[in-house]
Amino acid sequence: MLETIQTTADYLTSQSSIKPVIGIILGTGLGGLVNEIKIEKSISYEEIPNFPVSTVEGHSGRLIFGTINEVPILAMQGRFHYYEGYDMKEVTFPVRVMKQMGINTLFVSNASGGLNPDYVVGDIMVINDHINMFGDNPLIGKNNNKLGPRFPDMSEPYSKQLIAKAMEIGKKNNIDLKQGVYVGTTGPTFETPAEYKMFRILGADAVGMSTVPEVIVARHMNMQCFGISIITDSGVPGQIVEVSHEEVQEVAAAAEPNMTRVIKELVSLA
Ligand code: HPA
Repeated sequence: MLETIQTTADYLTSQSSIKPVIGIILGTGLGGLVNEIKIEKSISYEEIPNFPVSTVEGHSGRLIFGTINEVPILAMQGRFHYYEGYDMKEVTFPVRVMKQMGINTLFVSNASGGLNPDYVVGDIMVINDHINMFGDNPLIGKNNNKLGPRFPDMSEPYSKQLIAKAMEIGKKNNIDLKQGVYVGTTGPTFETPAEYKMFRILGADAVGMSTVPEVIVARHMNMQCFGISIITDSGVPGQIVEVSHEEVQEVAAAAEPNMTRVIKELVSLA
């Protein structure tokens, strides 16, 4: 696997003079951060050797080299979801490549269903921990000690320092940031009322279909992680209504300017 990662990392490094220090994975409806990037080079996933092949028709996403506030970054516009049929190693391959390119910090954004009764749709939650409910793990199989340890520590999956800085940014800009636990599940179904209830009982504040695999792999390689989630619908008993992908995208897009603001400022401090 290391050779495959190296090949892709070498290819990407040869594509731009930018030497990114932060990797950013942009989630559902959150691609607007791209407008804040001074883009130096943008590459379609199809052009990247060893990148997973798109299972959905149409656009599969782009990798963007650029700067935010002069900080060199590499952003994934579109991610690979487990529910699309990619295995965990494919879902997390781009994170492996980022690390190989010298990136030591990972930012991830996503949309999620709110479980904490204090949350309202449109809230932004800084992820301070997660629960892996995928029933799978990207580190299953032979471990490559060159990438990370067999039994990686997960005591600080999301950097406390970055969380503290994000909260400060929120305060300064009058952006109400929640903090909570994200439970990651396979999807593609949204939850039944009983499932939302179960995840709440398990200790989660929001539920979504991504992020956990990428963060596990990032922590395996000792990258510091920052995760931010937009609550696009409610899984709180009494508030559950029919939810569609379109609504999720709409709510995410509406909350995006504030999220973008936080990420933009945090990039300079990370
Ligand atoms: N459940 C799972 N994933 C989601 C949700 C949800 O309610 N909303 C956005 N992504």
